[in-house]
Parts: sequence; structure tokens; C-alpha cells
Amino acid sequence: MKIAVFDSGIGGLSVLHLALKKFPKENFLYYADSDNVPYGMKTKEQILKLVDQAIQNMIKEDVKAIVVACNTATSAAIQEMREKYSLPLIGMEPAVKKAVDFYGSSRILVIATPLTVKGKKLQDLITRVDREHLVDLIALPDLVNFAENEKFIEKEVLNYLLKELGGIDWEKYSSIVLGCTHFNYFKDSLREILPSHVNLLDGNEGTINKLYSELEKNKLLENFDKREVEFYCSGRKISEKNEVERMERYLNRLEKMLDIK
Ligand code: DGL
Repeated sequence: MKIAVFDSGIGGLSVLHLALKKFPKENFLYYADSDNVPYGMKTKEQILKLVDQAIQNMIKEDVKAIVVACNTATSAAIQEMREKYSLPLIGMEPAVKKAVDFYGSSRILVIATPLTVKGKKLQDLITRVDREHLVDLIALPDLVNFAENEKFIEKEVLNYLLKELGGIDWEKYSSIVLGCTHFNYFKDSLREILPSHVNLLDGNEGTINKLYSELEKNKLLENFDKREVEFYCSGRKISEKNEVERMERYLNRLEKMLDIK
């Protein structure tokens, strides 16, 4: 059986990319709900329906666990989906706790989609871990569209980042939490505009660790000799050469982003 990694689009490839390194003996299915990306500007009710449909499609493909590699889908739907489905559903959460633990002596900026920023899940997390009130939130929805269009370091992207983040007094900040999996593609462009003392943090490692413990707990770890990875877009298996190549380009970019902190 396979592990499914799900996102509204290509953001979750950043989680798949890490999972492929950590689980060399597992088969994977990557599911992008490309017909409906972006999720971040939709309502909770719309996302609940879309995530439910995506899970039904993935279950048909013999998956043993689903990583919801999307902060927005996790925020809007994970609780309801866990009540409905019995297979392990591993969610994604902005790495606020890690940021507070490591860099909690000065301010922390969380960047995410509008739905994640407004969502109760993130607000509850901040109430729980941000005792000194150091965390600020900004929604950067355009980055999702840039990533879907393979624009990462173009002038347009840098101008958008400067417009949204350029006015911040970075001396007061220690770190930025990438609270949307699509934002992992912009580590180099963020580094272009941020002072070097500001650290970039994402939640991918935490999600992978959780995936490991869920698989172990449920005795679902496997040991395939030859690993397979399949890609789906909103229920359709990707087979066209240009579509597979697009996925490979994203994974190549993520490899380059990996060591940028
Ligand atoms: N990649 C998703 C996340 O982690 C959401 C992007 C979107 O569809 O708006 O939040």
C-alpha cells in the first residue's frame, strides 16, 4: 500500500520531497487538487467538500495513510475528516511552537494563506504557545499563484514580497514561519529581501516525524525494494510527459531550497 501526500496544488511536493528522502522503502501517491487551487481564498465549507472528495479519490487508490500537506486544508478540515475516515490522517501546522522554542526572545512573523491566518486552529495554537505575545501574522495569497505558475525569483515576486514585507522593522524579528507549503519555493527570494539574522522555519520535518510515528504505531511501515511514486491531479492520474516534467521541475527547485534557512 502507498502513502498519499495531498495538497491543493504543488505546495505539498515540499513534504513529498522530504518524505522521499526519509522513507526510501515506501511507495507514494502525490495528489494535487489542481482544479481547485487556491484553497486559501475559499470558505471552510468549500474546503471541507473539496478535501472530502480528494480523500475519497485517494482511498480508491489503495492508500494506507494520508498526509494533508496543506496548512489550509488541515486548518479547515482535518478534524471533520478524522471523524469520518479511519485511516491515519497526518496534518500540517505552522511551526509556531518550534519558532517560540528556538527564537522566542524576539518577534516571530507567521506567513500563511488568508484562511489559515483567520482560522481557529492557528489562533488556538498561538494562544497555547505564544505566552509573551511575540507572534504576528500576515497572509500572502499571491505567493500561491506565483508558485503554481512557476514564478519564484522574478521581479514581480520580489516586488510583491517588498510591498508586503518591506515596511517591517526586522531588527525586532528573529524568524519567519512559512505557514503554507507553497512558500517553501520562495526561500531564495525571501533571503534576497530579508536581513541575514531572520531565520526561515517550516513545519515539514515535524509532519514527517508524525508520519513515521503513525505508521509505526499502526504497523504500516513497508520495505519495498523498488519504490514507486505516482502523481494525481484532482482525481486524474498524470501520465503526459509535460505534466510529469512539471512535477520534476518543482522537485528540482525544492532540492535547491533545502539548505536555505
Ligand atoms: N499549500 C497550501 C497551504 O499549505 C495552500 C495554498 C492554497 O491553496 O491557497 O496552506
